[in-house]
Amino acid sequence: MTRLLIVLFGLVSSAAMADEALVARGDYLVNTVMACGNCHTPVGPTGPMMDRALSGGLRFDMPAFDVYAANITPAEKTGIGSWSDEEIATAIVDGIRPNGIKLAAVMPTAFYKVLSERDLDAIVAYLRSVPAVENEVPMPHYKMALDEPAFPGAETPIDEAARAGDLVKEGFYLATIAHCMECHTGWTDGHPDPVNRMGAGGLELPGPWGLSVARNITPHPTRGIGAWSDEEIVTAIRTGTRPDGTKLKPPMAFPYYAHIEDADLAAIVAWLRTIPPLE
Ligand code: HEC
Ligand code: HEC
Repeated sequence: MTRLLIVLFGLVSSAAMADEALVARGDYLVNTVMACGNCHTPVGPTGPMMDRALSGGLRFDMPAFDVYAANITPAEKTGIGSWSDEEIATAIVDGIRPNGIKLAAVMPTAFYKVLSERDLDAIVAYLRSVPAVENEVPMPHYKMALDEPAFPGAETPIDEAARAGDLVKEGFYLATIAHCMECHTGWTDGHPDPVNRMGAGGLELPGPWGLSVARNITPHPTRGIGAWSDEEIVTAIRTGTRPDGTKLKPPMAFPYYAHIEDADLAAIVAWLRTIPPLE
């Protein structure tokens, strides 16, 4: 009997440890690399309101839609507390709510299709663990139907085994879930053109910070960051300080990127060095 209890206890505690590891991975992804709070956390006069983290925030008033980043805390009435794990996962990777309504393409679903099953489970487990904050976000308003194709190479999940030991592939995975190229892709004829203009920059991002223009982060020696050392690129991503000492403006998510692990940043830089240099 005692032995049976010990065995049972062992099973329960290793399951609890597995849950804890999953939530910790989700915490890391949501709060560093993927910077969900950069859109989903409300911003007050002194910056992000961390005591109300993920309870809904930024407004995106664009030609195709006028939407607010949703409350993604487990609040029952105004958040996603009543959604099943499956429903949360579907919203993240397919951009479809439980009521069938499609999310506006600012939610970077096109980049999240690459998420491994484990990482997607981890994100959902973490979202379930954060404090529920009731905060009603205004209803979305859609003006035209828009389909956003998956980011090239991100059509299907890339799991842990497929990335193991491959720095560039890990970098592609991390830069994709970080949706770096949502802002940094150049446009052709009014549309983002990730096939021909990936990393070329140029997108204008107006906001409380004034006007920010996404820069060229291809390895082009003069137009891009080809002449920067790895160290200089890492410093720019983490702190928003360029090699010449000038400061970068938001919405690059520096406060979140500051806590990306060294190995993960090294992978992102290794991948950035492999993309085609563009003018
Ligand atoms: C670039 C901004 C942005 C980022 C980054 C972002 N989201 Fe969103 N998200 C939005 C917007 C805007 C909506 C609402 C879209 C709409 O109403 O059509 C949304 C909607 C959602 C929804 C649906 C909730 C609901 O009630 O409809 C979920 C779930 C969600 N996001 C989770 C996440 C997670 C998890 C992350 C990070 C891994 C994340 N989002 C990153 C902008 C963003
Ligand atoms: C929400 C949009 C957005 C996302 C997401 C984003 N960036 Fe940026 N990034 C910008 C903008 C805008 C600037 C330029 C800011 C300025 O000039 O003040 C910038 C600047 C940079 C710079 C400095 C380049 C230079 O020449 O000064 C680097 C490097 C960079 N980003 C890398 C990344 C990487 C890597 C990721 C993903 C981990 C990423 N960015 C995600 C918007 C974004």
